[in-house]
Amino acid sequence: MQLEAEKAVAARAAAALVEDGMKVGLGTGSTVSHLLTALAERGLSVRCVSTSPRTEDIARSLGLDVTTLDELGRLDIAIDGADQVDDAGWLIKGGGAAHTREKIVAAAADRFVVMVDSTKPVPRFTWPVPLELLEFGLTSTMRLLGDVTLRDVPRSPDGGVIADWHGDLDDPEAVAAFLSATPGVVDHGLFPASMTSDVIIARGTDVEHRRLR
Ligand code: 5RP
Repeated sequence: MQLEAEKAVAARAAAALVEDGMKVGLGTGSTVSHLLTALAERGLSVRCVSTSPRTEDIARSLGLDVTTLDELGRLDIAIDGADQVDDAGWLIKGGGAAHTREKIVAAAADRFVVMVDSTKPVPRFTWPVPLELLEFGLTSTMRLLGDVTLRDVPRSPDGGVIADWHGDLDDPEAVAAFLSATPGVVDHGLFPASMTSDVIIARGTDVEHRRLR
């Protein structure tokens, strides 16, 4: 309950960054659900792109205008949750298996805002890295990746197989390069610090706003 309250606090702070007329990218997850409520309550005229069918359904039910990324082009802001944030600003995302679309939307935005509860900032990652893999050659891809497990969840909306990589994460940049360079990996849940502009962390009712660029 305390965590849900913190997610709502972080989401309200993130929603406050959205201005009338903006083109907005919407992430996926429980913190994003709070964001959608907070955004709808503001009654702004904004156009949104969603990173998952679930977010799209909730956004539309709240009266938010959702269209495609191709139609909107460059976004003013994208807002999303994360599974972990390290001290340098790297993220692990994809607990909700939406990391491929989330990364595309984050990269299309001038400002990428991450909002998290107090359990998400960590000195060193402890989560596995979510992966989206092509079905073709799956066994071969998994052999190249090493310690990887398939996740018992539906395919991504784009047909990708969801998996998790359990190797050593002391050097996220090196791991990200390895995963990106492995044929059959559609994308992975490591987001570089350079992608994120703001990290909003809720601790109880307090908000810490870290600006990365
Ligand atoms: C979905 C994600 C989510 O942002 C991440 O899993 C955090 O979710 P929540 O806000 O429910 O804690 O990356 O793919």
